[in-house]
Amino acid sequence: MEKLKIALLGLGNVGSGVYKILTTNKKIIEKRSGYEIEVAKILVRNKNKKRNVDVDSSLITTNFEDILNDDEISIVVELIGGENPAKDYILKSLEKKKHIVTANKLLMAKCGTEIFKKAQEIGCVHVCYEASVAGGIPIIQGINEALTGNKIQQVIGILNGTTNYILSEMDTKGMSFEAALKDAKAKGYAEADPTSDIEGFDAVYKLDILTALCFNKKVADDKIFREGITKISKCDIELAKEFGYKIKLLAIGKINDGKLEISVHPAMIPTDHPLANVNGSYNAIMIKGDAVGDLMFYGKGAGDLPTGSAVVGDIISVAKNLNNKPNCLDLFDENDDEILKDFGD
Ligand code: HSE
Repeated sequence: MEKLKIALLGLGNVGSGVYKILTTNKKIIEKRSGYEIEVAKILVRNKNKKRNVDVDSSLITTNFEDILNDDEISIVVELIGGENPAKDYILKSLEKKKHIVTANKLLMAKCGTEIFKKAQEIGCVHVCYEASVAGGIPIIQGINEALTGNKIQQVIGILNGTTNYILSEMDTKGMSFEAALKDAKAKGYAEADPTSDIEGFDAVYKLDILTALCFNKKVADDKIFREGITKISKCDIELAKEFGYKIKLLAIGKINDGKLEISVHPAMIPTDHPLANVNGSYNAIMIKGDAVGDLMFYGKGAGDLPTGSAVVGDIISVAKNLNNKPNCLDLFDENDDEILKDFGD
């Protein structure tokens, strides 16, 4: 079977998850993509850092040029986050006709237009970013593929797991904001600097990407109304509860009188509303399409394997395109029982 070489930029939480999925699900990935997908190089900042996954040390490099100048590497998987050097690495990789898979919401929200322009200028390169919004929930492909025949009228989501965890803990355990934030950090939900989570920036980036897809209108992220959850007290949560409401950090994009309204802010929602029952670090997104009606997506919005699942899905999707395997007809194979053994019990 032909090899498809990829490089990972970053071997943190998500990078480790991607590596684990590619290793554990190797056989089914080969069957579905038509390639043996090989991680040929991994860019890290610190070679000596302890990792969550066992990786052959010969794959590790601290020099991006090693990846850029390796013509056998077809896909660059960017998992370092932030604007720079991630943007620089992506643009340089596109120049070399490498395909891009990224989990970087900040970058896609702030520089997505520039990145797509570069990709178009280069031609025949894919840029996939499923993992940038709502971790393992296949919302980007859902909107871009299955729902693409709809006029979407509204998208409402809980797009940040950290704040949802904090608000859920304050609600169910009567914790203070500070105690719940400390707990969220200990569980690894919050970003290194939790400001982006608790002040609503993280949800703004994700909403910015979703609204561009839903409404074909890219809004600058700093033009989106934003209010985080730092002012929510135990008292607010108790009062809301008394009146039959829960407080959630909502990301909302909707058309009102022909105008697009976009905002991220805490909102009181009735306890019998589906979004009121999305607890812990889970994410959920409700979409209303003119043809499909109401839809709700629910799942893990963060974590090594859920986010890794979205990244690996994008890698396979690029591979299928390269291999001219756009659909699953050849997976309807009555004679292949070998693959089932690999599923385990
Ligand atoms: N800090 C983010 C969250 C991680 O809590 O949702 C996933 O983007």
